[in-house]
This record gives sequence, C-alpha cells and structure tokens, in this order.
Amino acid sequence: MINASYPATRLRRTRAHSWSRAMVRETILTPADLIWPLFVTGGKNIEEPVASLPGVSRWSVDGIVKRAREAVELGIPCVALFPNTPAENRSERGDEALNPDNLMCRAIRAIRDACGNDIGILTDVALDPYTSHGQDGLLDDAGYVLNDETVAVLVDQAMTQAEAGADIVAPSDMMDGRVKAIRMALEMNGKPNVQIMAYAAKYASAFYGPFRDAVGSGGLLKGDKKSYQMDAANGDEALREIGMDIAEGADSVMVKPGLAYLDVIWRAKEAFGVPVFAYQVSGEYALIEAGAAAGIADREALLMEKLIAFKRAGCSGILTYHAPFAARLLNG
Ligand code: PBG
Repeated sequence: MINASYPATRLRRTRAHSWSRAMVRETILTPADLIWPLFVTGGKNIEEPVASLPGVSRWSVDGIVKRAREAVELGIPCVALFPNTPAENRSERGDEALNPDNLMCRAIRAIRDACGNDIGILTDVALDPYTSHGQDGLLDDAGYVLNDETVAVLVDQAMTQAEAGADIVAPSDMMDGRVKAIRMALEMNGKPNVQIMAYAAKYASAFYGPFRDAVGSGGLLKGDKKSYQMDAANGDEALREIGMDIAEGADSVMVKPGLAYLDVIWRAKEAFGVPVFAYQVSGEYALIEAGAAAGIADREALLMEKLIAFKRAGCSGILTYHAPFAARLLNG
C-alpha cells in the first residue's frame, strides 16, 4: 500500500459527502447475505414468543411456511430450522432426531411444497433438541459425550433430514470426524448434491442461553459443553478445525458466535478461501435488543454496524435472527 503523506493525502476528502462515501465503500450488505434461523413448534396456528429473544417466536409448521414465503419476498436465500421437541418426545439417546415425521422433517416438506426451490433449507445436525439431558450427543456413564457413537447417530440424523428435502445439513455438534462420515453417507445414499455447512469453529459460549430456551433444552442441560465446543482462547485450533472440515467434505464453514470471533473469520478466509459464514447467535441478538431498549442507540444502527463487520471480515453470509428486519431495511 502506498500513501502520500499529508497534505497530498487527506483521507477526509472522500468522506465529505454521502455520494462520495458510497463510491469508495468497500463492502456491501444485501438480503442475499442473510440466513434466517427459525424455531419450529408443534400444533397448528401456534405462535409462541421466546421470552429471552424479544421479537422472535416459535411457529407451528403452518407459520414456518409463512416465514419461508416472507423470506423469499425479502430476498433472503435460506432459512435455518431448529425444532422445539416436546419433553415427551425427548430421550436419553435423542431417537426423535431419526423420526422421518419429526417436527424438523415436517417443516422441511411443508416449506418445499410451498416454495419449491425458491429457498434453501438448512438443517441443524446435533442431538440437543432431542435429548432429555440437553447435550449434543450420547453420554457414557460418567456423563462424557461419546464421539464415535454420536457420529454414527448424526449420520442417520443428517440422512433423515436430507431424505425429507434439506438442501444444506449443518452439523453443530463439534464431534471429530462427523463431516467425513456425513459426506460419505450422502454420496452413498443418492444425495450427492446436499451441501454441508460445518459449524467448524464453534466455541463454548455464554451467548447461547436464549437459544437453549427457544429449543427447550436450557432447563435440561447440566454442566457445560466444554468437552466438545472450543475454548474461547484458541485461534490456531480453530484453523485446524476448519481445515479438517474442508478436507472432510464441507462446502462451507461457519464460525460461531460471530462478533467476538471476527479474527477467526478473517484468518479462515485468508487461509482457505472457502465460503465462511458467521452465526450471530441468540445472545448477540438479545444484547442488541437490550441495548436498543436501554437507549444506547437505535436497533438499526447497532445491528447494521455489526452485520457489515462480518462482511468486512470476509464472510459470505450471516445467520441472524434479525434477518427479516435487516432485509426490510436494506430493501428500503
Ligand atoms: C446446538 C446449537 C446451539 C446453537 C445452534 N445449534 C446451542 C448450543 O450449542 O448449545 C446456538 C445458536 C444460538 O445461540 O443462537 N447444537
């Protein structure tokens, strides 16, 4: 980079007017950069507001279809589905994850019927919405989450979702080796074009609390997820995780949570040149809402500054509960 010194260079020159700022703007955000996470609940005509996520609700399948249509109208290319499995369908091993008529599969089919291929359907692969203990995998007697045994179930879960019509399966469990196992199963079972978006660098984070309420696993979870999710102090290890997931067959990778890990996004994009997505998680949403409610700044300003930061750091897109709000702003 070459810079003449002052006053030949006055960096304020191009900042003087709005038209000029627009001309030199380096990154843009469009609705096509957004993925909208949605919570599915049972019944018909049901909307259940999630107390810890003001403005976010769980919807029964009919309502999910309406949200998917709304996404298409707003130019949001993809929705991400998470089920709130009722307590009676949860179990130690999370078998409901493999039920081809579970909430997730019903929502996938209903969206596909209503929207065809106008929208991408991304599904979460992990057992926590289905287990009675709220951990993402199978436990041994000491309560340790077993790796290889869990991977075997995740493969079946991903295939169940792919059979129902999921376009992108997104393992969020952080077991070792699951991307390879899922990729092989998709190849061998007639689903070679189903994408894998790997939650490659997912940290054990304080920012997931409201999500756990939304899927109903918060009250069940004892302890933490530190034996599988990453330590917030580690960046090099994130690159190893991401590199392995790419080598195992991931089409895109995710860093999660978002804002506290922008360095990881940047390094991943520089190192691998693959599509990198950020998940602006539930706690990040709730903090923006709380900040807006406390009068720190408007919601719009707080949100847009953060979303553009993800683009600047190298993201191809962002999963955010603010997707419809942001898309409306961007569409004017
Ligand atoms: C579960 C999963 C979590 C999130 C997405 N998938 C929570 C967790 O790992 O406990 C968090 C999303 C959010 O907080 O918005 N495997």
